[in-house]
Amino acid sequence: MKILVLCSGGDAPGMNRFVYEIVKAFPNEVFYAKAGFKGLVENKIYPLSLSEMEKVKDLAGAYILSSRYPEFKEEKYFKKAVKNVKDFDVVIIIGGNGSQKGAKQLYDNGVETIFVPGTIDNDVDNSFYSIGFDSAVHQCVYTVENSMPSVNTFFQTCLFEVMGNKSSAICDEVAKRVDADYKIDCVKKLNYNEIVKIILKNKKAEKGTKIIVKEKILPVQDIADGIKYKNENIDVKCQIVGRLQRGGKPTKTELKFATIFAKETIKNIKNKRYGKKILINENKKAESFDF
Ligand code: F6P
Repeated sequence: MKILVLCSGGDAPGMNRFVYEIVKAFPNEVFYAKAGFKGLVENKIYPLSLSEMEKVKDLAGAYILSSRYPEFKEEKYFKKAVKNVKDFDVVIIIGGNGSQKGAKQLYDNGVETIFVPGTIDNDVDNSFYSIGFDSAVHQCVYTVENSMPSVNTFFQTCLFEVMGNKSSAICDEVAKRVDADYKIDCVKKLNYNEIVKIILKNKKAEKGTKIIVKEKILPVQDIADGIKYKNENIDVKCQIVGRLQRGGKPTKTELKFATIFAKETIKNIKNKRYGKKILINENKKAESFDF
């Protein structure tokens, strides 16, 4: 059996654990494409040993590297990828919605593939969970909880910018977990009068204000300036959670989900069931679906 695995798009904590479980189940049978679809096209395909994966199984990042590679769709690159994987029994692709399209495109062209959701954004269609989400949320919560004691001391306001690209999943979950005073997950929520009212109420109660802002709405400093423009006595700080969300250690929940995804993948491979996407249902169980 020859199995190829690759990570695609933004790296997500837990990817290494997933890959480790696959190598553990099929020692000496797993290869990787270095840096995702790009490595596939450039034929950068190498064997993966259990001993090297053992060292990184609890770490964030993608040991086998990842990339964003929109060129993959172009015929001249795609054809090369199909040629380079012809000796493999199955290609496992871990990534977000865009990567899922790449997996399907390969499958439609005769390559046996399995897709596994891996993106902190948790925006893979119809999956309750994607690898990386819980760890990303955990780092955001940690940042808020460890900033607020200081923010509260001076009745300041702090805008915490979290990632998510087009998805507000991280923003929503963090706001819920930290009991945020306000959440800005879309442009419509940028109601400066309402925000100022909340801040002034908190100041009166001698408290700080925590606001969770989804990235890519407006730069947080511009939002801070907008608040100060309304009331110059409001002291607004900005905290961008940034790389911690992808580079922070995978949580226990993360490692558990990565293992659930891996077990379902292994089951499919052992039964030669390919052309599948693995999704997590509301009961937190993995299920395989045809592309
Ligand atoms: O896709 C994951 C993600 O972390 C998004 O939440 C974010 O918008 C983007 O990647 C950041 O991309 P980059 O790592 O290229 O800055």
